[in-house]
Amino acid sequence: MAIIKMDGITKIYRTKDIETVALENVNLEVEKGEFISVMGPSGCGKSTMLNVMGLLDTPTEGQVLINNTLTSNMKDGEMAEFRNRTLGFIFQSFHLINSLSVLDNVELPLLYRKSSSSERTKRAKEVLEKVGLSHRMKHYPSQLSGGQCQRVAIARALIGNPQIILADEPTGNLDSKMGTEIIDLLFDLNKEGTTIVMVTHDEHIARTTERIIRFFDGRRIE
Ligand SMILES: Nc1ncnc2c1ncn2[C@@H]1O[C@H](COP(=O)(O)OP(=O)(O)OP(=O)(O)O)[C@@H](O)[C@H]1O
Ligand SMILES: [Mg+2]
Repeated sequence: MAIIKMDGITKIYRTKDIETVALENVNLEVEKGEFISVMGPSGCGKSTMLNVMGLLDTPTEGQVLINNTLTSNMKDGEMAEFRNRTLGFIFQSFHLINSLSVLDNVELPLLYRKSSSSERTKRAKEVLEKVGLSHRMKHYPSQLSGGQCQRVAIARALIGNPQIILADEPTGNLDSKMGTEIIDLLFDLNKEGTTIVMVTHDEHIARTTERIIRFFDGRRIE
């Protein structure tokens, strides 16, 4: 069964007099449990595709179905709730909050849910354990290495126990050793059943995943 289905997705950005077609009639199905890579030159629409897939951005045309649920019919609050339960995001630049400790950064997504503070902390400790960072809970992002920051971001993505992880160049800011650690971690999560869609510029990393989707000028190419 396709866990994600993008059907005729077009995304056009309009600013004053410039119109950019970031995605043009993109069709894509991701099967439950798959680990796929998304590749293509800078500006070809990879991040746009991931943001539309992850319901962070709305398409100009077309439909996104997740678990056979048509997402365009959802109201804003409903969509935020659905996204929070189903999807986890990892970004190239980690997107951590520097004034919060590692533990607080990881707990953040649960603040929007009805869970008690002790439940949140318990769950945050579990996911930090999973990414091998229990011993850095009280640290702040500025006190961590790049690879450690990305592992905190992964723990934050995992705290809601998402079925799907969307990662936009998760190793883009890391040296190859740290990059390999992050990819290994993603493979472990995939083995446990998490569906993963990862944008990468690294052909070598992409080849280790099940399938590579390629884009050029907003279109999927073979
Ligand atoms: N908010 C925006 N407003 C206007 N144009 C945008 C916006 N976001 C992206 N674009 C344009 O859409 C196109 C696709 O951008 P996107 O960020 O998806 O590319 P990308 O493949 O992720 O590139 P990179 O590899 O550099 O991250 C680009 O031409 C970009 O300039
Ligand atoms: Mg991008």
